[in-house]
Amino acid sequence: MKITFYGHASLGIQVNDVDILVDPFISGNPKASHINIEALKADYILVTHAHQDHILDVEAIAKRTGAVVVSNFEVASHFEKLGIECHPMNHGGTWRFDFGSVKYVNAIHTSSFPDGSYGGQPGGFVIEGEHKNIYIAGDTALTFDMKLIPLQTKLDLAILPIGDNFTMGIDDAIFASDFVACDKVLGYHFDTFGYIEIDHELAKRKFFEKEKDLMLLEIGDFIEL
Ligand code: NI
Ligand code: MN
Repeated sequence: MKITFYGHASLGIQVNDVDILVDPFISGNPKASHINIEALKADYILVTHAHQDHILDVEAIAKRTGAVVVSNFEVASHFEKLGIECHPMNHGGTWRFDFGSVKYVNAIHTSSFPDGSYGGQPGGFVIEGEHKNIYIAGDTALTFDMKLIPLQTKLDLAILPIGDNFTMGIDDAIFASDFVACDKVLGYHFDTFGYIEIDHELAKRKFFEKEKDLMLLEIGDFIEL
């Protein structure tokens, strides 16, 4: 499993030969101007919630690639009306796709479309594929519901928001790492704009002091599990 960071909360996940994009917000992120969204491959686009900084490039990429949008019922219905193939889910549900299984799990946040219309309830994803299991938290506060994840899934990586203000910050992400029983964390949702700028060295040191590994990728860089 290969995981590429496209800035903010945008990820590329390659499982075998299937390409999954998560929350593509690239064309609106000046820090990701070196990423060519025309060249991104996508068989699926997973969307955690309806906020602009998670859906901005969904329509363009889905229409170009024919990718299937996977999200909560309301977000899926929104993109279906635009003529995009969608797979609607809701909290607690798991579906087995050709690359592995996806469970839509709770997140504590809000979810409205840029025009203010209802975007369902926000979520995160637990993905099991290619004998690797990852948790993509989405925008969320620290929540006890995270403790439910390791009851069923032994995670190899937790992708957690760490930018604070709109989501968990670093200290709560350390607790989240305990809750999901995974010491290997990829941080996201930081540095994109002023409210969520973080001190990278301080963040890494705080994780290190709890015997955890926080990875912060440059935009465009990837890790392999
Ligand atoms: Ni959000
Ligand atoms: Mn966000």
